[in-house]
Amino acid sequence: MSVDKTLMLGNWINQCDNIVFFGGAGVSTESGIPDFRGGDGLYRQQWDYPPETILSHSFFVKSPEVFYRYYREKLAVDDAQPNSAHLALADLEREGKLVAVITQNIDGLHQAAGSKNVLELHGSTKRAYCVKCGAEYGPDYINKGDGVPMCRLCQGVIRPDVVLYEESLDADVMQRSIEYISQAQMLIVGGTSLAVYPAAGMVNYYSGDKMVLINKDATQFDRAANLLIKGKIGEILARAWKY
Ligand code: APR
Repeated sequence: MSVDKTLMLGNWINQCDNIVFFGGAGVSTESGIPDFRGGDGLYRQQWDYPPETILSHSFFVKSPEVFYRYYREKLAVDDAQPNSAHLALADLEREGKLVAVITQNIDGLHQAAGSKNVLELHGSTKRAYCVKCGAEYGPDYINKGDGVPMCRLCQGVIRPDVVLYEESLDADVMQRSIEYISQAQMLIVGGTSLAVYPAAGMVNYYSGDKMVLINKDATQFDRAANLLIKGKIGEILARAWKY
């Protein structure tokens, strides 16, 4: 982690008051939640089926039992705590410098850290609903127990409110995210491989001269960054913004 670059990040943060954060699974690895495509990511782990197959709409419909076995074992994490990245971003919002957190994560850790304006592009494991009548359920109803959770009202299947492969993102969340990014004075992008669309494409809506990219591995947007910092985002944000 280059000290100069972190100092520069700190200076830019001090100069700006319309900052937007765009992040992914790498933001939560320092909380003990594995990412997907990093060194020991979920997609590198062996399982009965390829995880990307299991996390698809058609697989959920065809094999909900297997889906739920994987979901409870790998995704329905409820004991993780926010790390210094989440806490720094929440503090930046409290200080009136950061206007929105746009996340691909479904773990709810930004909100747990105190962030108020969080746009969840891929949904959340903290919400669930009946596919038949739409009745809403909390995470405990689906995360605990075995088998496929059924609706108390209509016996329909309950599903987590996460975006599965083959499904589209919420149009309103996307539109608001694009508005925040296109109007941002500074965009901090962190802990994401920027490999999954349409989310990754949102970075292109930024038109300022302060796009900061903080990631452990290289991404296809590295050259587009005005400041590129390789390393752990929790450590870097904590050093750049002492909250
Ligand atoms: N600090 C900085 N970067 C990190 C850290 C860390 N502590 N830990 C991991 N990374 C980086 C990895 O190097 C990797 O490039 O974060 C990136 C995480 O990338 P992915 O695992 O691809 O996660 P993400 O970009 O969020 O994936 C996007 O794909 O699987 C789907 O729906 C899922 O939302 C997810 C989407």
